[in-house]
Amino acid sequence: MKLSAAVFSALLFSTASAGPLSRRQSNQTQNQNQRAGTPMSPARGSAVGAAYFISNEPTGNQIIAADIGTDGKLTLRRAVDAGGLGAHGNTDPNGPDPLFSQGAIKASSSGNIVATVNAGSNTLAVFKVNPNDPTAITMIGKPVGSGGEFPVSLAINKAGDTVCSLNGGAVNGVNCFKVDQHKGLVPIANTARSLKLNQTTPATGPPGTASHIVFSEDNKQLIASIKGIPPQPGFLAVFDVASDGSLSQDFQSVAPAKGGLLPFSLTVIPGKNAVLATDAGLGFDIFDFARNAGAGNAIAGAGRSSAVAIDGQVATCWSSFSPETQNFYLTDIGTATVTEISVDNNLKGTIVKQYPQGQGSGTIDNDIATVGNNDFMYVLSANATRIDVLSLNAPGKARNIQKLDIAGPARASGVKIDGNNLQGMTTFIKKRVLHTLWPGKTYRELQNAGLVQEERFAKDRRGKVYRHL
Ligand SMILES: *[C@@H]1O[C@H](CO)[C@@H](O)[C@H](O)[C@H]1NC(C)=O
Ligand SMILES: *[C@@H]1O[C@H](CO)[C@@H](O)[C@H](O)[C@H]1NC(C)=O
Ligand SMILES: *[C@@H]1O[C@H](CO)[C@@H](O)[C@H](O)[C@H]1NC(C)=O
Repeated sequence: MKLSAAVFSALLFSTASAGPLSRRQSNQTQNQNQRAGTPMSPARGSAVGAAYFISNEPTGNQIIAADIGTDGKLTLRRAVDAGGLGAHGNTDPNGPDPLFSQGAIKASSSGNIVATVNAGSNTLAVFKVNPNDPTAITMIGKPVGSGGEFPVSLAINKAGDTVCSLNGGAVNGVNCFKVDQHKGLVPIANTARSLKLNQTTPATGPPGTASHIVFSEDNKQLIASIKGIPPQPGFLAVFDVASDGSLSQDFQSVAPAKGGLLPFSLTVIPGKNAVLATDAGLGFDIFDFARNAGAGNAIAGAGRSSAVAIDGQVATCWSSFSPETQNFYLTDIGTATVTEISVDNNLKGTIVKQYPQGQGSGTIDNDIATVGNNDFMYVLSANATRIDVLSLNAPGKARNIQKLDIAGPARASGVKIDGNNLQGMTTFIKKRVLHTLWPGKTYRELQNAGLVQEERFAKDRRGKVYRHL
């Protein structure tokens, strides 16, 4: 099909009107009725998406939402009542990473939702995201019981219509829910499955606690990670997901390769039927499920699984994958360092580069979002009450581009936060769809077809030709 420049219409980039509230909120019960939540700072240009984390305050959990700009930088916009209480696990000394987890809040662009745990209320809440202004979120229905105690992590399937929770307290296990656009989260039959951990509510850890829950790449398995209690290594609990969404009665327990101890975050290795798990006691573990298939029970180091040390690490616990650089980025709360890892075709993982974020900043949860053709990493540096933003650029070429203070804007707007309670990091990127001429075509598809070239704006001589819808 020949496409002439004349058929392009010059459209303005949609500018989401933020509609900031003038009224300052200090009462969380009132907040809950405020759709737009407590405003934190004004918009800075148009947003291509949002980053979310939770205050996880025991007196009232709030979702804190920041705009992601076209340059990948963040602007804190609002705090929205999550409909329940936060919690802090029992640990000594007390410090950041209250839920000992990754995935406490999780967004889905395909489902247009963001879901959070309320660990102190044993509930989950799901919110609709306004695609034109992604920090404007509205709770769907009411918070629902998480199916256990001390929920710490959430998985959302590819379609964005199923949410599964990982409960890490005295009543622990997994549970799955359908996202109903009116009722909110509706329990799916035969998904309440125990992990049989000997735990307390709130959980006592970090050793021996539930860490993270994810779907496998094909969405046919649900995987939860459990840290060991040294010298006993932890394990992954792998459930089969049936077509009706129900889970296998029992899970397959998969131990890390020799040397693995405290599997924490789970990041799918694309195209490999494998995951990279950070290991707080070592560095990271690679779990090769392809070679484990049909194994039945705990097989340490099956197939190409491995446990890899990161020299000088203290507690490597969180990870994300960059589709653009094809590398993995891990954070260590103790060294406050981002470690970039490449995993080759044979699942061999090697350290590419390390990026220190400032001693004592307490780098915990992170997520990566693609803006234009570039990936950006958002690191919750909880102990510094800050978000560190890295532009990943190319393998081995990440660069810090922003240190976003959370404490100042929170104080100024009356949003209660504490670095020891903050948790989670997830991103939402607006779907980019070309206007009318090619309905349903994404920017990337058109770019691959050679129809648009520029990184952030698809333009011809007449102006911009796409917008966020
Ligand atoms: C918050 O607002 C509710 C409802 O208006 C009220 O009952 C409650 O006393 C308020 N709490 C505080 C701490 O102001
Ligand atoms: C559970 O943990 C507690 C505290 O560590 C311990 O006293 C108890 O023996 C454990 N129970 C089982 C069944 O392992
Ligand atoms: C957090 O900051 C305090 C005060 O600067 C420091 O003593 C502590 O070691 C830090 N914790 C982490 C996990 O970085």
